[in-house]
Amino acid sequence: MMILEAENPIGIFDSGVGGISIWKEVHKALPNEQTIYLSDSINAPYGQKSKERITELSIKNTEYLLKRNCKLIIVACNTATTNAIKHLRNSYNIPFIGIEPAIKPASLQTKTKTVGILATKGTLNSELFEKTSSKIDDNINIIEQVGEGLVELIEAGKIDSEEMYLLLEKYLNPMLDQNIDCLVLGCTHYPFLIPVIKRITNNSINIIDSGEAVARQTKRILSQEDLLNTNSSQINPNIFYTNSDKRLLQTLVKDFKNIIVERKEF
Ligand code: DGL
Repeated sequence: MMILEAENPIGIFDSGVGGISIWKEVHKALPNEQTIYLSDSINAPYGQKSKERITELSIKNTEYLLKRNCKLIIVACNTATTNAIKHLRNSYNIPFIGIEPAIKPASLQTKTKTVGILATKGTLNSELFEKTSSKIDDNINIIEQVGEGLVELIEAGKIDSEEMYLLLEKYLNPMLDQNIDCLVLGCTHYPFLIPVIKRITNNSINIIDSGEAVARQTKRILSQEDLLNTNSSQINPNIFYTNSDKRLLQTLVKDFKNIIVERKEF
């Protein structure tokens, strides 16, 4: 059995570059920690795949991160969390942190009692999401929208394109017509779309994502397990692996120091 040490890295995986939105929060909250990030872009999007396939891919990513001695794994993907985290927690003896759409906080914030959620088909159809949404107060109206095509455009580097604007407008306008005042981003790729969403909605709604909450929870669990790295004198580089073209990943982390971005098969 692997011995977990505080100096070991934190593993993070996503179907692509979406989890970088989570990595940024984790890096901000835990600057002493080394991280190894897997962008499984060759298999993106996960959102349209079956629960079985999403679980298989999550196992593959986990096994790779365990080979690299990760002490904790962040499933930086709502689709993989809602479909596979139970299996991962039952199969491996290390802590897993997942991410789920923040509909509970949104339901407490909304004044119009109407909340929109944009997520993948895999997340919205999952048992875990159904369980979470069944606990929301009955007088809150939750409008679900599958963000079909958004992840593909982001992975193609078309975050700020006309195509993206039109597709998002198609998804958001019906929600705005129904008077949402909160929009939950239920996919880790979507925080990259916040500037476009703000333009379409005239900055008139609250946009809610769970990145900071994931970083807080990671810190809490590491400290509870006595695995927080308190040594700030020698921090190993943060490593980013992608199994497809590395240019987009490189662009997204270009402002950070002590970074390695590599293409690798995993
Ligand atoms: N970033 C992912 C999520 O949070 C996955 C998107 C996808 O691959 O479809 O759901």
